[in-house]
Amino acid sequence: MAVVFVPLESEAGETRVSAIPETVKGMAKLGLEVQVERGAGTAAGFPDAEFEEAGAKIVDASARGSADIVLGIQAPTPEQAKAQRAGSMLICTLTPGTRLDTIAALRDAKVTAMGLEFMPRITRAQKMDILSSQATCGGYQAVLLAAVYLPKMFPLMMTAAGTLTPAKVLVLGAGVAGLQAISTARKLGAVVEANDIRPACKEQVESLGGKFVDTGVPPDAETKGGYATETTQEFLKRQREILTEHITHADVLITTALVPGKKAPVLVTAEMRKAMKPGSVIVDMAAGMGGNVEGTVPGERIVDAGVTIIGDTNLPAQVAGDASRTYARNVLAYFGEFVKDGVATVNLENEILGAVTIVHDGVVRHEPTAQALAAQQNKGGN
Ligand code: NAI
Repeated sequence: MAVVFVPLESEAGETRVSAIPETVKGMAKLGLEVQVERGAGTAAGFPDAEFEEAGAKIVDASARGSADIVLGIQAPTPEQAKAQRAGSMLICTLTPGTRLDTIAALRDAKVTAMGLEFMPRITRAQKMDILSSQATCGGYQAVLLAAVYLPKMFPLMMTAAGTLTPAKVLVLGAGVAGLQAISTARKLGAVVEANDIRPACKEQVESLGGKFVDTGVPPDAETKGGYATETTQEFLKRQREILTEHITHADVLITTALVPGKKAPVLVTAEMRKAMKPGSVIVDMAAGMGGNVEGTVPGERIVDAGVTIIGDTNLPAQVAGDASRTYARNVLAYFGEFVKDGVATVNLENEILGAVTIVHDGVVRHEPTAQALAAQQNKGGN
């Protein structure tokens, strides 16, 4: 019977947890024994006692060293990675490009490391898709934050003291996070506009009651997996020209535009942003990837030219309960793919396992990361 270890996340500000009592029961049904680090779920609203009731054993951090499968929200530190035993598995959000030391430690420790952010976007894997589940939480939270900072209420109100006009919200990037932001802003009564470069978005925006701002579709706008591709500088320039007028009239701007593996496109220059009304609010959900708005400071909330710019890089952690619930369910669904009768079988021919397994048996299988590690080693050797 394989033993699963659920850690207390060690990264600052990380309040989520990778398993919840409900999924502990699910893991037990798959024949797994679950050990939860003391306090792991407290910040997300899942106390130790509930984990115990669900059948988990409460342990301390050292249990990582004897587990067969280690879960996580964030990637471990190199020291935590080294503590795992050879042949064990790690399942988390790996972000290998920014964690080369951890990846090297996992490779050297012969750990099989799986990055759930590499889940292929195929129908079968939808229930395992952490990018979607966490983007949904982030998109929701972005709107709530904007509503708190905006010196205006969202809905149209007819009061004895006169009419209050609804807030105008502009959402750039209408993927999973953007669509959730549109839906949440509409529920709060705002008037919503949105833009994206993928052709499918227009209908999706309109079906949520938003108005689509058409800035055209660049050639090959979308990959087979449904992601956007990088646009030319010329296209971006034209896009910014069209967006300028809409930005000027918006009370709230929420930006979510990402291109996988690349720096986020700058959709709003400092000049465009300075044309916004004083008191308006920007939530730049792409802050962690360089930002869609010039001047965003990742991890900070600043005021510039009267406009609040929120650059929080971990919005899902601000709705830690449901973010953990959905993440943990994604993990359980993933276990269903390769765990049977308490035995985990890593078959890299399986489309899903093959895509998410980044380190296996001392080999880094993710080409850009392998290259970056080789370059680092060469530099160190010179
Ligand atoms: P994402 O987080 O990578 O990007 C967010 C949005 O930014 C995307 O809609 C993208 O088109 C947009 N964007 C990129 N560059 C832009 C630019 N210059 N201007 C305006 N917008 C720009 O994408 P996300 O939200 O993770 O997913 C995108 C799509 O993937 C979904 O809408 C869906 O079609 C597909 N998908 C498929 C799934 C499945 O089949 N399992 C699961 C989840 C998503």
